[in-house]
Parts: sequence; C-alpha cells; structure tokens
Amino acid sequence: MLIKKPSDIPPSEITPESVYRARREFMRGGAALLAGGALFSSMAPSMAFGQQGDALKAAAPPGLTRTPPAAWWEEKFEDIRPAPSEEPLYTAEALTPYQDVTRYNNFYEFGMDKSDPSNRSSAFQTDPWSIEVEGEVARPGTYHLEDILKPHDLEERVYRLRCVEAWSMVIPWIGFPLADLIKRFEPTSRARYVEFETVIQSDTMPGIRSPFAIVDWPYREGLRMDEAMNELTFLAVGLYGSFLPAQNGAPIRLVVPWKYGFKSIKSIVRMNFRETQPNTTWNDLQANEYGFYANVNPEVHHPRWRQDMERRLPQTLFSRRVIPTRLFNGYEEQVAHMYKDMDLARYY
Ligand code: MTE
Repeated sequence: MLIKKPSDIPPSEITPESVYRARREFMRGGAALLAGGALFSSMAPSMAFGQQGDALKAAAPPGLTRTPPAAWWEEKFEDIRPAPSEEPLYTAEALTPYQDVTRYNNFYEFGMDKSDPSNRSSAFQTDPWSIEVEGEVARPGTYHLEDILKPHDLEERVYRLRCVEAWSMVIPWIGFPLADLIKRFEPTSRARYVEFETVIQSDTMPGIRSPFAIVDWPYREGLRMDEAMNELTFLAVGLYGSFLPAQNGAPIRLVVPWKYGFKSIKSIVRMNFRETQPNTTWNDLQANEYGFYANVNPEVHHPRWRQDMERRLPQTLFSRRVIPTRLFNGYEEQVAHMYKDMDLARYY
C-alpha cells in the first residue's frame, strides 16, 4: 500500500473546510443516515467509511508512516464521536486550514522557526510510546499508549487556540477529556497539581541539539488539579479527523483552550501528581513575561505583545484578520469560577 508523508500530500488532497464540515454534519446526522452509504460516498468520496483507514494512514505523522500504525491505533480512529454542535466544545468559527495548522507551529524541540517543526520532524519516533505516571496517585506506573487510549471513546472538539504571540487558530481536535484519564490513576488527596513533560529525543529533535537552544529540556508544563479536571481540558491524539502530525505533538498532547498556547504541552511522556506547584518551562525562562496560569486575558499585556487583539490565521495579503481577544479566550462561563478570588493581573 502506498503510504504518503504529510509533506507529499498535495493541497488538493487535503479536505477543504466545506467538505470537512459537511462530513461532520453528516456523521452527526446519526445511524439512520449511515444506511445511505452511497450518499455518504458521493458527499465526501475520499473519506467514505471503507476507505477511512487509508485516508488516515495517508495523513499519519512521519513516525507512524515508517512503521505502519498498529491495528489498535487505527481501530481507535474508525469510530470518532463527532463534535457536538454547540459551544463550548464546538465553535462554529471558520476552521484554520489544515495547511496552516500543520505548518505554522511552535515546537522548539525541532527549532525556533514556525516552519521548523513540520520541516525537521520526519525522523521523530512515536511508536512505541509510553507515559510515566508518578507522585500522588494510587496507580503510578509506566503506561503504554495503547493502554492509555483503550478505554476512551475518541471525540472531536473544535476549539480556539490563542498563542501569547497574539495569533490564533480554530482547530478540530480528536481526543478525550484529561479528567477521564486522571480518574483512572486515582489521585490522592495530596495531589494539588499535575506536571507534564515532553519527550527528549535528541537524535530526532534538532532543536534539542542546537547550541542556541534557550530551553532547559525537557519542556515542562503544569496545571492545578481543578484546571486539569475541567471539562474543557483535552488530550488530543488527532486533528482534522486524522492522526496528530509530529509537529502538532504526536502522539498525544494537551489542549487547554482558555490558556495561552504554551500551556498546551506536546508529545507527553511524563505526568507527575504533586502537592506543590511545579516549575514550568516559560515561567522559568522569563517569569515576568510568562506566568504559571497564563489565562488568556486582554487586559494583562505581555511586554512584547499586546493581548487585547489577535491575528486569526491564516492572514492574507489583503486581510490581516485582526479580531478582539476575549477573556479566557471566550471560555469564561466554563472556567472563570476557578479564579474568582484571584487577582488575574498578579496571577497572570
Ligand atoms: N510543547 C513543546 N513540547 N514544545 C514547544 O515548543 N510550544 C507551545 C505549545 N506546546 C511547545 C509546546 C506553544 S508556544 C504553542 S503556541 C503551542 O504548542 C502551539 O501548538 P501548535 O503548533 O499545535 O499550534
């Protein structure tokens, strides 16, 4: 079977948003419509059910294309629960095209330019993959990715992603709530924070080997337990109905939509449940610029980027698409209660 790398996929093969949305609407339509397989095929031929496995493989991240994805992994993707049709789990705002979501990235392990992660991640290994679970939990251990994913139904969510650099995207993620995974580890009453770490693969991650690297690897992030258990906090294993490309944090990454993008740590290999607040990469590097909380807040400016406006990608020559930034990135109703007694300018 011909398996293509993402870089080989011509733009014409990447599902345009209208078709993508139509396919999702169709799936949401329910089982009765599934009987009309011919109708489905004519709406979105490249994603007809029988061919879905092939389509997914065609867009699989490089690490998975070289060793064809394990059957269990492919099976997980055969039955994705479509996005619900309402906020907060689904925004009807226009999706950022696949090309931009997968070619304009921050993943410093591969380099500091936005194009480095997609251009320099072809050797990245994502199979086998396991996550070390440590600290204040009744069930610590090393969990293989298959065991992590097995009990969870995959669902789609369409979230806004707001970077502290004042750009934003709208991304259809595939994954499951972090809370559902955390419950399986049975945190003790002393677990007040959870710390996450990204893999170090020095041989496949040129940014780690670079003498100009500014980060003290591994990349680290953390959440308070109530934040980690919030209904919006998501572990993504895919996007645009397919596997997560290496540059977006394959095979598993965090998505915290009301916080600046740097909290959404990629390619997770360790979770540590702790009593005390963990150190985090950007806070350690420049505490006056990057807080531990990093809640999107149009009133608290970063020294180099105003935070009351954002550039919604993609931009064109004719339109900069600048829109106002919303408190908690528009997820105020779901998250504001967690910070009601906090001074958001102090705990930025
Ligand atoms: N995770 C790791 N391990 N390394 C990184 O450099 N960058 C963060 C975050 N997660 C980063 C990371 C930043 S700054 C942003 S804005 C988001 O990933 C970008 O996610 P995306 O490239 O999928 O849009």
